[in-house]
Amino acid sequence: MNHDVKKLSLSGQGVKRIEWADQQMDVLNIIRERFRKQKPLKGIRIAACLHVTTETANLMRTLKAGGAVTYLCASNPLSTQDYVAAALVKNYGIPVFAIKGENRDVYFKHIRAVLDKKPHLTMDDGADLVSELHQKRKAQTGTIRGGTEETTTGVIRLKSMAKNKVLRYPIVAVNDARTKHFFDNRYGTGQSTMDGIIRATNVLIAGKTVVTSGYGWCGRGVAMKARGLGAHVIITEIDPLKSIEAVLDGFQVMPMSRAAVVGDIFITLTGDINVIRVEHFKKMKQGAIVCNSGHFDVEIDLKGLKKITRSKKQIREFVVEYTVTSGKKIYVLAEGRLINLAAAEGHPPSVMDMSFANQALSAEYIAKNYTKLEKRVYGVPENIDKKIAQLKLMTMGVKIDTLTKEQKKYLNSWEIGT
Ligand code: ADE
Repeated sequence: MNHDVKKLSLSGQGVKRIEWADQQMDVLNIIRERFRKQKPLKGIRIAACLHVTTETANLMRTLKAGGAVTYLCASNPLSTQDYVAAALVKNYGIPVFAIKGENRDVYFKHIRAVLDKKPHLTMDDGADLVSELHQKRKAQTGTIRGGTEETTTGVIRLKSMAKNKVLRYPIVAVNDARTKHFFDNRYGTGQSTMDGIIRATNVLIAGKTVVTSGYGWCGRGVAMKARGLGAHVIITEIDPLKSIEAVLDGFQVMPMSRAAVVGDIFITLTGDINVIRVEHFKKMKQGAIVCNSGHFDVEIDLKGLKKITRSKKQIREFVVEYTVTSGKKIYVLAEGRLINLAAAEGHPPSVMDMSFANQALSAEYIAKNYTKLEKRVYGVPENIDKKIAQLKLMTMGVKIDTLTKEQKKYLNSWEIGT
């Protein structure tokens, strides 16, 4: 199989959108130009399992410019932009295996298709590719030099593999770079999640009570943007520290059992399973809207909801109405999958610019250093993170101060007090 996409005839739209995104990905453009000249990834086969979006297309183009041979499959069955998949195959010569709405079997068939290409490097978002490789294709791991991981959920899975001594090659946790999670997780998820909810439902956010579960970087971003749109925001958390932070940020914090009663819109971003359960659905108001922006579709107990459902009907493209036994209607968006990528387009290009600059430079780092790396999870090297921050500021046209000699000396001294 050389590719598997919905319709190659969508490629024209794909090219225009990829180019539109590319204009907003200045750091990646700088890296691509250098890669074109230096070819740091010459001959390296990369199997990437990422959301197939315009931004990812520009990362793939960058890796290819660096000399890599790249193959792409989807990291979520609902996040693929079919026009991007078509354009990558037809116009950029990059094989893609992804169709929006693919079922679980096809999703894994596509993962296996990129693994069949015998990659030297894996690029994952959520660790499904690495997990498949380690569970079903152990023998193949011998030829893999390293991999990168894009997201919090994936990094947690990979660290667990390393802790259990089953990880068979080194991984660079792109998510842990400051130029990634400070911006992508917070501003990217914040904006794209609200965008997804609005595109799916067309509801007014102002005046609504929005319940955000999880106050990590993504939850912080969503809470901030929901407040900006005029919502009353309630946070549910299990971490005492993050809960204090949410309170001091001006949000109400309470358990889901209480939030369920008052919420109009529920958004889960915890990375854990069954955050919203039957006991919570039973307490919700008529017309409550429930969605997820965490990586996997495990945060809302849809199986439980189905058990108390009398009838179910599709209302709009990403909106399903569940009429529960009491007669109350609850609306679930995008089957509990990532609302920002299913109903909207994921994070905007200018924030993915930094995330994917980290991916490109981490791939280069692995290509250069793989013989020295151990089978564990590494952070992105500090110098790469800093370089990306400097380039981003430069391309944004923002100048900042530098320390004077006297200030540098002061910061290195311990003798001078008041
Ligand atoms: N994750 C979140 N937003 C994304 C985007 N636009 N492209 C790829 N991965 C993403």
